[in-house]
Amino acid sequence: MCEFESLTPDLQCILYGEKELNEMLDRLGREITEYYRDRVKNRKLILVGVLKGSFIFMADLIRRIDLPCQVLFLRASSYGSSTVSSGNVAVEPLPEQDQLKGADVLLVEDILDSGRTLEKLAGLFIETGAASVKICTMLDKPARRVANITTDFCGFEVEDQFIVGYGLDYNEIYRNLPYIAILKPEIYS
Ligand code: IMP
Ligand code: MG
Repeated sequence: MCEFESLTPDLQCILYGEKELNEMLDRLGREITEYYRDRVKNRKLILVGVLKGSFIFMADLIRRIDLPCQVLFLRASSYGSSTVSSGNVAVEPLPEQDQLKGADVLLVEDILDSGRTLEKLAGLFIETGAASVKICTMLDKPARRVANITTDFCGFEVEDQFIVGYGLDYNEIYRNLPYIAILKPEIYS
């Protein structure tokens, strides 16, 4: 395996390695398949990935969902280069009504932090005509929640620390780490 020599000095520690990630993905795949098994008989299931952070998680998760489903990606930006959510969430492209009519939507996100991004997205998909909206997040950081929102399918709960890897970035770097790690505070403070 690649050693990632140029990035590891910035990390405080590794939280979840390949084995833990695979077990988590297997479990989520089973939970999601179980939950939607009967529903997909009458409706279509659409997994909506929030870019860019969810791209690795989505790719691994979808291969463990044993149901017909569609995949869609959109961008939701609120962060800029800081580590604190601004509260203003821009969504692009906006979902289309035709696409969502009668569909069960599963939002797939890297991490649930303040909750503002997913609150905005869940509202938007319901308004646009989805039959249901559920949330699947790889990580949940409940300590920093502002919005009244919870995840329906959750990988791991994490403490109030800045996490990188497996899709998660700081200033667009570290997404390629094949594990989930804590970034040293001196890197961002
Ligand atoms: P929320 O709207 O505050 O819930 O923010 C969600 C977004 O903030 C996530 O999609 C991430 O892009 C980013 N974010 C929040 N916490 C972290 C973290 O610990 N590491 C990397 N990105 C994070
Ligand atoms: Mg993100």
